[in-house]
Amino acid sequence: MQLLKDKNALITGATAGIGREIALQFARHGAHVVIIGTNEERANQVLKELEALRSTPEQRFSKVLINIADKKSVDQTVEKLLADFGNIDILVNNAGVTRDGLLMKMSEEDWDAVLDTNLKSVFNFCQALVRPMLKARSGKIINISSVVGLTGNAGQVNYAASKAGMIGFTKALAQELATRGICVNCIAPGFIQTAMTDVLTDTQKESILKKIPMGRLGQPHHIADMALFLASPLSDYVTGQVLTVDGGMVM
Ligand SMILES: NC(=O)c1ccc[n+]([C@@H]2O[C@H](COP(=O)([O-])OP(=O)(O)OC[C@H]3O[C@@H](n4cnc5c(N)ncnc54)[C@H](O)[C@@H]3O)[C@@H](O)[C@H]2O)c1
Repeated sequence: MQLLKDKNALITGATAGIGREIALQFARHGAHVVIIGTNEERANQVLKELEALRSTPEQRFSKVLINIADKKSVDQTVEKLLADFGNIDILVNNAGVTRDGLLMKMSEEDWDAVLDTNLKSVFNFCQALVRPMLKARSGKIINISSVVGLTGNAGQVNYAASKAGMIGFTKALAQELATRGICVNCIAPGFIQTAMTDVLTDTQKESILKKIPMGRLGQPHHIADMALFLASPLSDYVTGQVLTVDGGMVM
């Protein structure tokens, strides 16, 4: 059964890792998918993978290359997409970056870069898309936070603040939109095997594994499966929630 047949989905940071896997999963379930990223080569590669999953001649896949932290670019992009697609039913705010370091040594630039990419982008896309979702009286907004937004993590004050900020944002917006048929939820992944975690040393990975009751890192498809649930009618009575997908790390 295709859970997202003919739904229009927009996913940020979908040219790699978790976002790519969400795009592929949504495509398997019949959605039209717009991927947002910064790297043309990787975007084209994901478009090819999406094409291979096409289930009808009408199913549409497209890419937009912008910096999601820039409000003007996001507004222009959303305006064009709405003119083209009519509506966006599902928004996944997935793109995120890390610039780790202890607070004492963290530059203002590293603080701003992480907050702008991870949190301001969520404001940018939600503000641009909420009005058309209100008109349609339906919509699913899924924000990809992190367990670090719940627990904190030494060396990541910028990243943890951005991810905790997403959680507060989600709960506030969920309350604003709860009576209007729009669900807003967060997924908080634990440690998932992607380029973001590939940079960890073996010693760091060993110490992380000790904190995961299931004893293994997660895979991008684990997050994509939760995103599918939150994007589909299966979660129509779920809003303002933070769903951890972390092998039991945070209980
Ligand atoms: N991998 C993990 O263990 C893990 C854990 C918790 C949360 N997360 C979160 O999941 C999300 C995806 O992470 P991932 O591991 O797949 O990372 P990744 O580095 O593999 O992919 C990140 C994606 O975001 C895009 N991106 C970055 N900056 C952008 C910008 N300014 N404009 C547009 N696109 C931009 C990149 O092009 C890339 O496609 C992130 O928000 C991350 O914080 C990841």
